[in-house]
Amino acid sequence: MNISLKLLLLCLTAAVFVTRTAATEQQGRIVCYFPSWSIYRPGLGSYGVENIPDGLCTHLIYAFIGVNGTSWEMMILDPELDVEKGNFRKFTQLRQKNPNLTMQVAVGGWGEGVWKYSQMVAKPERRQSFINSLVKFMKEYDFHGFDLDWEYPGAADRNGTSADKENVGTFVQELRKAFDSEGSDWEITMAVPIVKSTLKKGYPIKKLCEVLDAIHVMTYDLRMAADGFADVHSPLYRRDHDKGKYKKLNVHDGLALWQKLGCPANKLVVGVPFYGHTFTLNNDDKNYSMGTPINTTVGGGDPGVYTRERGTLAYYEICTAVQNASDGWTVQWDDQGMVPYTYKDTQWVGYENEKSVQIKMDFIKEKGYAGAMTWAIDLDDFNGLCGEKNALLHILHNNMNNYTVPQPAAK
Ligand SMILES: *[C@@H]1O[C@H](CO)[C@@H](O)[C@H](O)[C@H]1NC(C)=O
Ligand SMILES: *[C@@H]1O[C@H](CO)[C@@H](O)[C@H](O)[C@H]1NC(C)=O
Ligand SMILES: *[C@@H]1O[C@H](CO)[C@@H](O)[C@H](O)[C@H]1NC(C)=O
Ligand SMILES: *[C@@H]1O[C@H](CO)[C@@H](O)[C@H](O)[C@H]1NC(C)=O
Ligand SMILES: *[C@@H]1O[C@H](CO)[C@@H](O)[C@H](O)[C@H]1NC(C)=O
Ligand SMILES: *[C@@H]1O[C@H](CO)[C@@H](O)[C@H](O)[C@H]1NC(C)=O
Ligand SMILES: *[C@@H]1O[C@H](CO)[C@@H](O)[C@H](O)[C@H]1NC(C)=O
Repeated sequence: MNISLKLLLLCLTAAVFVTRTAATEQQGRIVCYFPSWSIYRPGLGSYGVENIPDGLCTHLIYAFIGVNGTSWEMMILDPELDVEKGNFRKFTQLRQKNPNLTMQVAVGGWGEGVWKYSQMVAKPERRQSFINSLVKFMKEYDFHGFDLDWEYPGAADRNGTSADKENVGTFVQELRKAFDSEGSDWEITMAVPIVKSTLKKGYPIKKLCEVLDAIHVMTYDLRMAADGFADVHSPLYRRDHDKGKYKKLNVHDGLALWQKLGCPANKLVVGVPFYGHTFTLNNDDKNYSMGTPINTTVGGGDPGVYTRERGTLAYYEICTAVQNASDGWTVQWDDQGMVPYTYKDTQWVGYENEKSVQIKMDFIKEKGYAGAMTWAIDLDDFNGLCGEKNALLHILHNNMNNYTVPQPAAK
């Protein structure tokens, strides 16, 4: 290759690079996870593609696909629903109504575990199998973005390895190259935790934040029944009673940690849960303060009629319970964490409501973060049982819709 051709190529590469980073006006993201299995909930709880509201999200993410631990290709987890009943296609067709919508597919989730991902990223030919099959899949079903939900690289307690940290960086770089060589503007994002030791073990933060379009910070599940006491799970700030490892487990400190480890604010999307974590207290316990011990033989609170899982309730199951004072739920406010909790008899619930979600939106704008993400749209009050339909999602939209993410100063 002669010198002038090399120069020309260099200039072209530079030009492409400039347009990628100098995306002028970046609107605040509204990232909506869509868990496909919520279609199986009974009655009013059943949530399908038809229930996804128009015009409220900028990014919709189909959760989940998996990895095949033999062929290392992507794997469809519910072929009957996803393919035979046409759910993938119905989902991506939502883009016909709004061409600005980014339709993503997420791989992973808690249930998929760690081991297969650790093994898949460990070898070049396995990464290639996965990436090739993913590109083919995304073209076939018309997805425009990919979200990596591996929970978590480097998690030794779940069979992750110390090599995961480097390998996950290589994997996303190769994925970016593959998407680029398709001539596509497909996005790559990743759902990530905020626990410092987990980040140190498995996350090459600078590289991830360079290569990825956005980082979805999972600032929820920060207190659960396994902790042995009742508390809210998405406090915005540290509270006086947070001791030891709990001191930094709040939204503000989690985002600050990502920035401190080298991620720019305009890549960080703040997670907001549309569900509560629930606890069962001991029978004779009338102390409902945050931090009160729970009945550890039972752990989580009673399952909801619709979501049917011990330990969590959808926002719509909570708002319907607390809205009628004669039902006997007492609602309290965590003054420092800026989130509500409620209790009745032995049941204790930490959650988010319209007030706490608005406070989080103000926080995102004040800090210049990239937007808001929710797990998940099927847990909002999508039937309007307590008032406006999709009340919490509307707050995300009202705030992010006319918010422009500040860009870092040019160097
Ligand atoms: C995984 O891949 C293997 C090898 O190609 C194949 O035999 C198997 O059916 C796949 N498993 C699933 C669940 O798709
Ligand atoms: C899509 O984005 C463009 C540019 O930001 C905007 O002008 C247009 O109104 C958007 N379309 C819809 C349907 O939101
Ligand atoms: C970890 O790997 C071992 C041995 O392969 C297996 O028995 C165990 O179930 C795995 N644990 C998890 C959490 O995947
Ligand atoms: C904990 O819950 C179990 C099961 O409901 C019950 O039998 C037990 O009495 C409870 N323990 C306390 C201390 O309340
Ligand atoms: C209630 O429980 C909290 C948290 O364990 C504790 O700090 C507080 O002292 C308790 N209050 C009473 C009156 O026992
Ligand atoms: C509140 O609950 C009571 C008793 O269950 C019921 O009679 C009443 O109609 C409810 N009120 C509203 C506004 O739902
Ligand atoms: C954004 O829209 C909301 C209502 O949707 C309004 O209250 C607020 O003033 C607007 N902010 C800006 C910066 O335009």
